[in-house]
Amino acid sequence: GQGVAMVTAVAARLAAHRCLLEETLAPFRLTREQLAAVQAQMREAMAKGLQGEASSLRMLPTYIRDTPDGSERGDFLALDLGGTNFRVLLVRVATGGVQITSQIYSIPECVAQGSGQQLFDHIVDCIVDFQEKQGLSGQSLPLGFTFSFPCMQLGLDQGILLNWTKGFNASDCEGQDVVCLLREAIGRRQAVELNVVAIVNDTVGTMMSCGYEDPHCEVGLIVELEVCGSLEGDWELLEHSVWHREMLERGRPRLLCELTTGWSNSRVQQTCLELAVCWGEEGKAFTQGTGTNACYMEELRNVASVAGDSGHMCINMEWGAFGDDGSLSMLSTCFDASVDQASINPGKQRFEKMISGMYLGEIVRHTLLHLTSLGVLFRGQQTQRLQTRDIFKTKFLSEIESDSLALRQVRAILEDLGLSLTSDDALMVLEVCQAVSQRAAQLCGAGVAAVVEKIRENRGLEELTVSVGVDGTLYKLHPHFSSLVAATVRELAPRCVVTFLQSEDGSGKGAALVTAVACRLAQMTCV
Ligand code: GLC
Repeated sequence: GQGVAMVTAVAARLAAHRCLLEETLAPFRLTREQLAAVQAQMREAMAKGLQGEASSLRMLPTYIRDTPDGSERGDFLALDLGGTNFRVLLVRVATGGVQITSQIYSIPECVAQGSGQQLFDHIVDCIVDFQEKQGLSGQSLPLGFTFSFPCMQLGLDQGILLNWTKGFNASDCEGQDVVCLLREAIGRRQAVELNVVAIVNDTVGTMMSCGYEDPHCEVGLIVELEVCGSLEGDWELLEHSVWHREMLERGRPRLLCELTTGWSNSRVQQTCLELAVCWGEEGKAFTQGTGTNACYMEELRNVASVAGDSGHMCINMEWGAFGDDGSLSMLSTCFDASVDQASINPGKQRFEKMISGMYLGEIVRHTLLHLTSLGVLFRGQQTQRLQTRDIFKTKFLSEIESDSLALRQVRAILEDLGLSLTSDDALMVLEVCQAVSQRAAQLCGAGVAAVVEKIRENRGLEELTVSVGVDGTLYKLHPHFSSLVAATVRELAPRCVVTFLQSEDGSGKGAALVTAVACRLAQMTCV
């Protein structure tokens, strides 16, 4: 009698917990109709932005009218600022392909959030260091600057920073031409004048780098996660790579960037580069936020702010800001609101905060806090650990959701975080992670669907074949993200045949290719 009563009570409690979990996660589970509505709103915001009407999508012209045709040649410098790190690259575009030598430099948080002068002085120091190391001092190669923030461009080599995003907040830069800020810093350091040909958003670089191989590539997409963390965690992420033991044996992770330059497996290389920076100069952990955005080739006649009726222009959508006018509020959960409120830019980049890796871990953490307060998780016991901001790195979503993991391992990962939990808890945490990342991928897919449908309609085609160049660690490393994006696009844009291409070093190679195309068009000799 008593035994049965106890079993029944436990079963009833579990069922009640299940119910509460489902209720909590329900707002993350978007229906096809909701996704179609996001797509439609995106289309509307795109049209308004292009017309110069009030819209959360800025639809910024990039002055790029052409993707590469493969005939580009020459040596170029490229700078890459705006992701997890700053890089200087020497890019040789030759008949045999593109060869890249690069050096990665960390931007300490105090510089990213210090004064603009400090930031640009630091950048120039890095460039000078690179030029010395590569024997390039005194030369002024054509330079492409990948600067992955919203810029109002008035030409290829002019970009006024509209506002910082992603954890950058250096003072006195907003409203300024970034190329001027760079030139002024060069002046202060009395360094050799640089020949800045183009300023490029990372999405544009990504599109261009894939466009070099595939002429159908007319969309660029970035979905980044922050990279940082413990040695163990990160190596687990790279577990299946044959070389990882070798790397461990060589120790000194910051040498990784030198070791991996020129490797053919760029996904692995990129991850390594990012890891190398994570440890920073002193081997200290280091994080910087990253975002999501897209660009695509629009008909020039649709771009109100640029004269001309024929041909195309690449548009940097700045889709991270989609919904900043409140249009996404129906989808936003109370957990999204908490994450937004605690960020350095409340009310801004609402779409980005639902998609990009910088924020997903925090959404998960807030959801877990709520489930704990309901008594569903962790026996209802709030721990200090779970109340700590940013403990739940987004890469844990990738790890936890990896198919090869048994629940026991999920539990171990969470225990490593200092959370003590039962198997039931582990299963629920897994479900929370899945719900949050699935929503992210589907929203991203709805955005891509809006873009490709726009291109198809622009051209009056029954069916459009198009490729999307993609970069970003969330897209590349999360076990299910990319397939969910593709599935959503198939569902919402059935008349478009969309191929996703993973870009190889979009920001570096892409910036060089933009520069190369500009040089080709200007018939400059760049060699
Ligand atoms: C942020 C920036 C945008 C960039 C994206 C990805 O959304 O505003 O310019 O493309 O992050 O790095």
